[in-house]
Amino acid sequence: MDGIDILDSMRLKKRLVAASLLFVVAVLGACGDANDANIDGAASIDAAGSGKFPIELTSSRIESGNLIYSQNCASCHGPVQGPAAIDPAPVHGDAGHTWHHPDRLLYQWTLDRPPLATIMPAFRGALSDEEVLAVLAYIKSSWPPEIQERQNLGSAQYEAQVIEFGTD
Ligand code: HEC
Repeated sequence: MDGIDILDSMRLKKRLVAASLLFVVAVLGACGDANDANIDGAASIDAAGSGKFPIELTSSRIESGNLIYSQNCASCHGPVQGPAAIDPAPVHGDAGHTWHHPDRLLYQWTLDRPPLATIMPAFRGALSDEEVLAVLAYIKSSWPPEIQERQNLGSAQYEAQVIEFGTD
């Protein structure tokens, strides 16, 4: 499939148009007068993720994420661009599916396991929130620019849906 998997769900697809529009309004609203019509959206951005997503790639995050990855992830997932070290573990590179998912889900799955996970452990308690953001920043930094751009766009669209509809 040639897009962001999460958008596959009918429920989310129906919301996408409205959510994309809301994203544009939210971005414009953030640059303009905070008292204009988008005050609700501006307030919920903080409630929804404190601007955590899309994850900002900084050189310090990428550097610490590289170490965190080698100590916590590589034993199963292999080097970030593959091959995987154990059979059912997906690769995180551009050949894999990781970039088909928005940052917020990658973050939740690393903390609390992906849906229907069999082997992948939860890292809540083992890694701090910032360490999870750093390891994901490292994974993202390994993707070519056009994949980073698409995945960032998908992550931003997902945030717009979270702002309007919540995470249920
Ligand atoms: C013990 C092996 C193991 C370790 C350690 C591990 N994973 Fe996984 N991971 C898996 C497997 C296997 C899956 C596929 C789901 C399943 O069956 O558990 C998976 C799935 C995932 C997924 C969802 C699929 C995808 O690529 O989007 C993400 C994200 C992920 N792992 C990130 C990480 C990160 C980040 C770390 C290190 C902090 C890590 N994993 C450490 C085995 C592991």
